[in-house]
Amino acid sequence: MEEASAEYAHLPRPVLPRVAPQELLLGQKALVTGASSGIGRAIAISLAHAGADVVVNYVADEDRAQELVEQIRALGVRALAIRADVGDETQVGEMFRRMIEELGTIDILVNNAGLQQDAPFHELTLAQWNKVLAVNLTGQFLCARAAVREFRRRGVRPNISCSAGKVICVSSVHEVIPWAGHVNYAASKGGVMLMMKSLAQEVAPYRIRVNSICPGAIRTPINMQVWETPKAYNELMKLIPYKRIGEPEEIGRAAVWLASDYADYVHGISLFVDGGMTLYPGFQTGG
Ligand code: BGC
Repeated sequence: MEEASAEYAHLPRPVLPRVAPQELLLGQKALVTGASSGIGRAIAISLAHAGADVVVNYVADEDRAQELVEQIRALGVRALAIRADVGDETQVGEMFRRMIEELGTIDILVNNAGLQQDAPFHELTLAQWNKVLAVNLTGQFLCARAAVREFRRRGVRPNISCSAGKVICVSSVHEVIPWAGHVNYAASKGGVMLMMKSLAQEVAPYRIRVNSICPGAIRTPINMQVWETPKAYNELMKLIPYKRIGEPEEIGRAAVWLASDYADYVHGISLFVDGGMTLYPGFQTGG
């Protein structure tokens, strides 16, 4: 690998001023993939509340994406919706080109787009395997690569942020918890974990920060069947020591912190936001 960025090595430890929450990301340009619903939508709103201009990426639901753009603009920041399938190299390239044309650059990429196509392993089709890997893993690769290229081209702008750019991968507790019946999904998230950490190691000298957020059970359409009836909810609680489901805004707040300079020394981590789901809840009483 080429000798990286000695130009930043001499920079002193940043001294951060206290900033109001609505100014934490002031002047920064964020792209949130899969932002028209669920966790992505909440992250887009949280970043906008913190002062960032936001690109709302979506693949199908144009009306919901436009609605979100209006809601974000009402907060006094810029927003636009861009349609792109994150698993498609050409569409990703075009999305970044448009973002940079409209907003000038990118400071924060939130790699959120993801889906589940569940089946018992012996019935899992190659199409289901490929689709989940294409969106959840290849999509994160393609978007991260495009963002890193722009971060490296542009470098640090000290009046905007201590770092040259941030990549936040939305992973899952299932990057470490095996998940029967969801092998394609768990494989994709396990892949995100080592993609994120390897990339973090590689681009750190360029002052590019790369981290993941790993949500547990969050109340969104993707997992409706585990929270919509009291019976299902009670079953779910057996897996959550904190005894409640998470809300999308809680992932939004984690994303704001990770993207902000308050987390400038946080690099290459998986931040679990899961009410303790990764704590082997069965051992609370067993073992
Ligand atoms: C999945 C949800 C699931 C949660 C906890 C997430 O990554 O998308 O369907 O409820 O993990 O198991």
